[in-house]
Amino acid sequence: MHQTEKKRAAAEAALEYIEPGCLLGVGTGSTVNYFIDALPQVRDKIDALVASSEATRERLEGLGFDVTELSETGDLDLYVDGADEANKHFHLIKGGGGALTREKIVAGASRKFVCIIDDSKMVGTLGAFPLPIEVIPMGRSFVSRKVIKYRGQPVMREGFVTDNGNEIIDVYNLKITNPVEMEERINQIPGVVTVGLFAHRGADVLIIADDKEVKTIKK
Ligand code: A5P
Repeated sequence: MHQTEKKRAAAEAALEYIEPGCLLGVGTGSTVNYFIDALPQVRDKIDALVASSEATRERLEGLGFDVTELSETGDLDLYVDGADEANKHFHLIKGGGGALTREKIVAGASRKFVCIIDDSKMVGTLGAFPLPIEVIPMGRSFVSRKVIKYRGQPVMREGFVTDNGNEIIDVYNLKITNPVEMEERINQIPGVVTVGLFAHRGADVLIIADDKEVKTIKK
């Protein structure tokens, strides 16, 4: 399967997790876009939709869905999103699209997180994909100096502003042997809004499409 077909296959496999009356959180990215495009098939089962980015909100509204604020729905039944990297412990790197903060909020508010990826995203050790960190603009240099301690190379994402009005630092060449600890430590740096490590609240289900099939791994 070509990579785009793998993304579509993983996305469509996530539809079966939507049960009648579902309060659904929707992630951001090219894989989730296939999921969004398939959602009209299960429109009757969805009671409310929460978007993890403005881009996702627009795509959902373009299909005629109403998008609700998380503060109105309370906790959600299900969150479906992609990832930039995943390991067998269900830890993820996310934020390649810059939506990591809202994604982490919606993931945290959801009872089940189904992550949809193609097999190129599965890794032994996280960190080959640059780790995104959303920062308050004033703190960008300070945070960069702090993360150099972890032997990564921080690079500002030029010309990019998040949906929250902040900036992104991408940290290259990290070898993340303890994702839970690194998530905690980076979260402690003043000026950090969110680090794109999803280890404390990783995925509950990984749907992985490879050349031959779509596999599901549950926690
Ligand atoms: C968006 O900020 C990201 O967390 C995406 O979920 C992640 O980058 C996966 O995107 P793709 O499906 O486009 O690879």
